Amino acid sequence: MEKADPRVVVITGGSKGIGRAVAMKFSGENARIIIVHYDPDNAASDETMKILSEKGVESESHRLDVSDFSSVKGFFEDLISRLERVDVLVNNAGITRDRLLMRMTEEDWDAVLRVNLKSVFNCTVAVNRYMIKQRRGRIVNISSVVGLMGNAGQANYAASKAGIIGFTKSVAREVAPRGVTVNAVAPGFIDTEMTAGLPEKVKEAFMGQIPLGRIGKPEDVAEAVYWLCSEAASYITGQVIQVNGGMYM
Ligand SMILES: NC(=O)c1ccc[n+]([C@@H]2O[C@H](COP(=O)([O-])OP(=O)(O)OC[C@H]3O[C@@H](n4cnc5c(N)ncnc54)[C@H](O)[C@@H]3O)[C@@H](O)[C@H]2O)c1
Repeated sequence: MEKADPRVVVITGGSKGIGRAVAMKFSGENARIIIVHYDPDNAASDETMKILSEKGVESESHRLDVSDFSSVKGFFEDLISRLERVDVLVNNAGITRDRLLMRMTEEDWDAVLRVNLKSVFNCTVAVNRYMIKQRRGRIVNISSVVGLMGNAGQANYAASKAGIIGFTKSVAREVAPRGVTVNAVAPGFIDTEMTAGLPEKVKEAFMGQIPLGRIGKPEDVAEAVYWLCSEAASYITGQVIQVNGGMYM
């Protein structure tokens, strides 16, 4: 029997942290993994590519600012014309610019909304037409527990992550008749570079709110993302799956 064509899986922010863990999860199947990142250099993405190639997975890495509409449009046009399909989009790229509202600048607000929320629009619009035409597709958007419960010092970040939830539910309704599912995963406090720099006091405060008593691993989040992209989750759309150790229920 002929082997099925690999699923084309695009993961934004796939160079490290949660995005890398998602890539590793997909490496267990017949997938072609496309990573997008915007790190200052390619060190982390090279490491991810190395691991994927050692596992024999076809993969590519691209340094691209997902908040830039025309770059994203051009990127997906090129990708789809080369590979002739796109099966999974994981909108995972994200940044923080934490500050109390009193000190938050317009630049802090705009940067976080652009990278965390506008990017989700940019990438989803770019794949939407193809997924609809294919009558098949999975989109998973990475939100946050903070988008559900709010957090002092993160008004910009919380707004971007709550915005992702509204976007997810709306697009899920639009594309459901064409066999495309759109869901969000809202991680809690996860051990990555994004949280590594938090002051110890803040980390302790977070830990005190987690009934399961430990910080989350990127792999905990990747499990949920992967499952949402599996056949087993074909009847699930417009949902927000929380992976937070019980931090918010
Ligand atoms: N770590 C946590 O505790 C946590 C909790 C909830 C939600 N999240 C969300 O999960 C996602 C991944 O977070 P992480 O902790 O793995 O972060 P990370 O800092 O380890 O990785 C962020 C990734 O996003 C990419 N990125 C940043 N700006 C980009 C841009 N303009 N264009 C393209 N790529 C860009 C980076 O290059 C990197 O690959 C983010 O959306 C984050 O908000 C994280």
